[in-house]
Amino acid sequence: MHRFAQGLLALVVGQLFISAGAASDNPAPVNYMLHCQGCHLPGGVGHPGIVPSMRNQVGLFLRSQDGRAFLVQVPGVAQSSLGDAELAELMNWMLPEFDPVNVAPDFEKFTPAEIRQYRSTPMTEMRKRRRNLLTLER
Ligand code: HEC
Repeated sequence: MHRFAQGLLALVVGQLFISAGAASDNPAPVNYMLHCQGCHLPGGVGHPGIVPSMRNQVGLFLRSQDGRAFLVQVPGVAQSSLGDAELAELMNWMLPEFDPVNVAPDFEKFTPAEIRQYRSTPMTEMRKRRRNLLTLER
């Protein structure tokens, strides 16, 4: 009986670990809701003057390597509690979802290694860099 109870306990604890593991492996839209939407709002519309809208604009950053890095170096992404792989998945879902105008379906996807590299490099001169990136010649 005692052994049975131990076995049962092990089973229950095992299940808890499995569900905890699954919870940290949310699909990208759920991670957006949990980790980004509080500031960026549904659909990435943002708050005028506070949080920039991503609608039909955020894809412009993909035109250069520095722009790709910028997207990952903003504090909300670089300092997110999400891991590199989860962030890569989130960005790869979010960009065409919020900016179908500037992001082709076959755009160069972010890899976890790329995310790791960019987020470990600190952001510098954010405002100026953002302005330059958005006004690049097309
Ligand atoms: C605490 C609020 C907050 C959270 C949470 C947050 N962001 Fe942001 N985000 C901002 C603000 C504010 C900016 C504008 C730059 C700045 O002042 O930091 C921004 C800028 C950005 C930009 C650049 C857009 C542009 O046009 O410059 C991207 C991309 C972005 N965030 C993605 C994300 C993603 C993805 C997440 C979730 C993993 C996230 N953010 C979480 C507030 C937030």
